[in-house]
Amino acid sequence: MLQLFETPIKKDNPAGRPMGKAALGQYMTSSNIAAFMASLFPKAHDGFHLLDAGAGEGSLTCAFLDALRSSDSPFPSGEVSLFEFDAAMVQKLEENTANTFRALSVERHICHTDFIEHATMLVLRKQRPFTHAILNPPYKKINSGSLHRALLRDVGIEAVNLYTAFVALAVALLQPRGTLVAIIPRSFCNGPYYKPFREFILRHTAIRHIHLFTSRTDAFKADKVLQENVIIKLERDAEQADICISTSTNGDMNDYSIASYHVTDIIRPGDPEKFIHIPDAQDAAEPLSLANSPLASLGIEVSTGPVVDFRLKEYLRGMPQDDDVPLLYSGHFNGKAEWPKAGFKKPNAIARCPETMKWLYPNGYYVIVRRLSSKEEKRRIVAYLVDPAYFPDAPFLGFENHLNVFHCRKEGLDKDVAQGLALYLNSSFVDTLFRRFNGHTQVNATDLRALPYPSLKDLAALGVWAKGQKELTQEAMERHLEHVLA
Ligand SMILES: C[S@@+](CC[C@H](N)C(=O)[O-])C[C@H]1O[C@@H](n2cnc3c(N)ncnc32)[C@H](O)[C@@H]1O
Repeated sequence: MLQLFETPIKKDNPAGRPMGKAALGQYMTSSNIAAFMASLFPKAHDGFHLLDAGAGEGSLTCAFLDALRSSDSPFPSGEVSLFEFDAAMVQKLEENTANTFRALSVERHICHTDFIEHATMLVLRKQRPFTHAILNPPYKKINSGSLHRALLRDVGIEAVNLYTAFVALAVALLQPRGTLVAIIPRSFCNGPYYKPFREFILRHTAIRHIHLFTSRTDAFKADKVLQENVIIKLERDAEQADICISTSTNGDMNDYSIASYHVTDIIRPGDPEKFIHIPDAQDAAEPLSLANSPLASLGIEVSTGPVVDFRLKEYLRGMPQDDDVPLLYSGHFNGKAEWPKAGFKKPNAIARCPETMKWLYPNGYYVIVRRLSSKEEKRRIVAYLVDPAYFPDAPFLGFENHLNVFHCRKEGLDKDVAQGLALYLNSSFVDTLFRRFNGHTQVNATDLRALPYPSLKDLAALGVWAKGQKELTQEAMERHLEHVLA
């Protein structure tokens, strides 16, 4: 059966819609942020038809009209279509916007309907009525079997989340050279699920400006939304040129800074994943010019740990016996490696038998990175060297699925290269690069593949240097990296 939403539909809701702030994604834009978003539009001399999809109480539309009113040019003629499906919200919307619309003689269409259902219908009819779009869309996952997913697919849009669906539909409904400004989570910048969305916006629009809120908590302060948010400005059917990147800690915009970047700094040429890198205008990382090799060119691969423990339950062992081999979890690596770990909540070992062999790697030198970094950790990427000396009697190793493992065709790496790679991955340089395209705490293998790496020779030299250090401090490591790779 097709499902419209993920959340249960409450019986006391006559329209059959899910209720509640979270279910509807009702996180309102503050007036400061709304004014900033409105300021990003070019002047609308020739009239306008603004789309506000998921309009809530109408604060984005009001900010847009305010910006037009306070410009020195005469107020252009125009109309606004506001989509909102929550009845209570529609009432507020009507009240909040009535006076402004009347005073400015702007036509107002309040569409009390589901934007996705309505917009997909317009796209099928090949209509593109809007010159401007301003959005703070809801952001909830779209289920793969839902009606929304099916409607979107009918118009060629693959979306896993309501926010990408709203933005893609708004882009589809924009006239040539129409402009969209939206505040959305940053998660679309990387990750395989958002690749169709990235491809869609890069095919149909030019990215003009990205504003990054560097604090994860502050953009929607009152609502406690834990996301890194961006404001993105796109121009429909336009040539891509340099991109403005601005940052501020939060919506107060007190520490606003802006710089212009060549498009290749933001989207690396030839990157099949089309990751969007957002340099933080306040970060001071200078490029390490000798770290410029794609991982694949080094013959090194990175994969998620192949042992999915709940699928191999019967082969898991608390402590190793007989033919069992180590099963490594991130909990075995806290500051230093510790295996087997007494009192460990997870198994320390896995049986070595025909059923498990295809999930095991031969004992050797590997580098592992946790797939989920904790909020307390200073760096997003925390890498550990797996040294075969930790497991002298083990012919094989099991890497659990919450780890990323650097390997060489499912075998270990050269000793020095592995040590150098762990050192490189733990540098603040890598951390800064990583944060440019990844705004959350997840570290996927695709993300690690997207980083540039030093050559094998340089990695091995780093490894040899690290071995020669009596005490390896972060500071000494950073200084050395800069010295040899800058
Ligand atoms: C994040 S809020 C933003 C509200 C307003 N634009 C603002 O910036 O303050 C998103 C709004 O979209 C509405 N909404 C959620 N799903 C919708 C849908 N499928 N169609 C129309 N509106 C929807 C919610 O009720 C909510 O008011």
